[in-house]
Amino acid sequence: MLDNIDKTSRISFVNNKFLPHQNCMVHIEDRGFQFADGVYEVILFKNNKLIDVDAHLSRLDHSLSGLTIINNFSKEFLIDVAVKLFKYNNLKEGTIYLQITRGCTARFPSIPKDIQPTIVATVSPLKETNETEFNKGYTAIIEPDLRWHRCNLKTTSLIASSLVNQKAKDMGFDDAIMFREGLDITEASYANVFMVDNDDNLITRQADNLVLCGITRNRMIELAKINNIKVQERLFKIKDLLQAKEIFLTSSSLIIRPVVKVNYQNNDYQIFNGQVGDITKRLKQYYQDFINS
Ligand code: PDD
Repeated sequence: MLDNIDKTSRISFVNNKFLPHQNCMVHIEDRGFQFADGVYEVILFKNNKLIDVDAHLSRLDHSLSGLTIINNFSKEFLIDVAVKLFKYNNLKEGTIYLQITRGCTARFPSIPKDIQPTIVATVSPLKETNETEFNKGYTAIIEPDLRWHRCNLKTTSLIASSLVNQKAKDMGFDDAIMFREGLDITEASYANVFMVDNDDNLITRQADNLVLCGITRNRMIELAKINNIKVQERLFKIKDLLQAKEIFLTSSSLIIRPVVKVNYQNNDYQIFNGQVGDITKRLKQYYQDFINS
């Protein structure tokens, strides 16, 4: 499949072809481009394994059906593409970005039938959080959640997340944690949010339509329960977060990131005196053990 390709260049995948990355093009009338009419997954590849791949591909299915895009791609096919991409790019570990859009058609607000979906995939090396960064902890601003009401679908409509993430960077913070009406916390720009209260309850929002039900989130919850950490999936508010003993974020690419300082309405709040908490450290280790198992 890779005949006539310079094997030293980065290889990506577009519409059933493996091509040099710079030649991977999608048409200007792709509905992903014009309407954000598409979904994606980011999956971690470590120790020669796609981590929690079944859960990721089930969620892909769920996101596609939420947009009424018919999934013509079998799990076996998608796994094969992923494994080949890591091989062709000589990557022993990394992440794969996999995107499926409804496909190309003349721009029109209603949704045409019988168009071929567009599929693209690309792999990147792992940007792992090193020990020093982890122990120093991360910082976040708390901002209104301006996204739509179907955040349970992993769509490519990411501009609200992107803007709030940039606002955090411009203010000298690492990320943004978002809230909705009633000051209920939803999630971070590209990750789920957990907090630990003073009774050592691990709390994260229930997986409703206003958050993405993270695969790493679910795995952390399972690992916490196995290891006798009390878990509550429920609403929690900004005031709870500001008084938290620990806060951390989870996602397939970050895995687990402690947050030791938050900013709300231009006031800084240290979490646990700016230290990384015990439950966060334990969960990092449990996740590491899970990946290595
Ligand atoms: N983001 N919430 C949001 C809004 C996300 O974008 C993500 C992941 C998560 C965590 O989901 P998971 O544990 O399944 O990765 C939660 C990916 C990594 C991204 O957009 O790059």
